[in-house]
Amino acid sequence: MTEPLAAGPLDSSLRVGRTISSSPLAADPVSSSSLVGRSLTALDDITPGQILTLLHRALWIDAHRDEVAHLADARVMATLFYEPSTRTRLSFETAMMRLGGRVVAFEGSQGSPSASGQTVETIHDLIAEVSRLDDLIVIRHPKEGSARVAAFASQVPVINAGDGSHRHPTQALADIAELYRRRHTLTGLRVGVVGDLVRSRSAHSFVSTLSRMGANRFVLIGPARRRLPAWVRGTIDASDSTYCEGLNLPRALDEGLDVVYMTHLDPADYPTAAQFERVSARYALTPARMAIAPTDMVVLDPLPRLSEIDTAVDDDPRAAYFDEVHAGLLVRMALIAAVLGLDLPEQADTFTPWQEED
Ligand code: CP
Repeated sequence: MTEPLAAGPLDSSLRVGRTISSSPLAADPVSSSSLVGRSLTALDDITPGQILTLLHRALWIDAHRDEVAHLADARVMATLFYEPSTRTRLSFETAMMRLGGRVVAFEGSQGSPSASGQTVETIHDLIAEVSRLDDLIVIRHPKEGSARVAAFASQVPVINAGDGSHRHPTQALADIAELYRRRHTLTGLRVGVVGDLVRSRSAHSFVSTLSRMGANRFVLIGPARRRLPAWVRGTIDASDSTYCEGLNLPRALDEGLDVVYMTHLDPADYPTAAQFERVSARYALTPARMAIAPTDMVVLDPLPRLSEIDTAVDDDPRAAYFDEVHAGLLVRMALIAAVLGLDLPEQADTFTPWQEED
């Protein structure tokens, strides 16, 4: 059940210099083999242990790039992007190519037009056809639930690359992979989530997934009208994680966050540019705010950035958002390998490059 945290002082154990214990979560290699042939439309469909296994496999892949360079030889992935994308599409396509596979793609189409120019083809029909051509389908679509429809229609695995304002599971994998690489745990963290929490599908998937990884405490920070949707708060309620609302960003940083997840507000939601700038400044990360934040805090952002993070923060070692792009590539390689049933050695399932350091 939800146990909203009071907007009071934080547990002193969450302050700067805390020793991070290893995650008590265990990887789940046996059931990870059950990902073969499966679609991934939401991370809720797989267990926390399976998620952890994917993160370990991604770390293993990073350390053994040559060994996976031909893993997907002769396999073909279709990327169907009905909505613009830079990072996700390039990341998926690069991931498949770095595994030795090939990619076919379309972008921006709403289906094949009829003679009159009207769009007539449904997602169901298009996916039914593409799944008879290719081994894997990655889809982004502006409508919530479209990836589920696609998975239902498909004969091959479908991966959701973002459906409307709903979910973005592989962006969450990228976020969480980089967090895990930096903190070596996904449990017991104090996590600020900042900005437009209504529209950000990346934030929805990040929160709903991290809440399941174990006893995390979310601090939700944003304009009242951009509150995290009830269905996402419900996923926290259903876990042993908790959340609070109502803190402002400087106070949350001052009281101590292990992670701050930044999303941007949309200028279209404000009547004037001046009003947008005034509100967005309230929820922006600046060097002055970083100065009061814990020295080991991790700054995540699914990108693209508008004004939610001052560019002067980029050189701060806590800024993890560009490294997330690399983490996203690796975890997408791991996911593609998992659903296509491409073999990785058993040691990949529990691989952690930092073991010797700890
Ligand atoms: N983070 C993300 O989803 O970026 P794109 O829209 O460029 O794919």
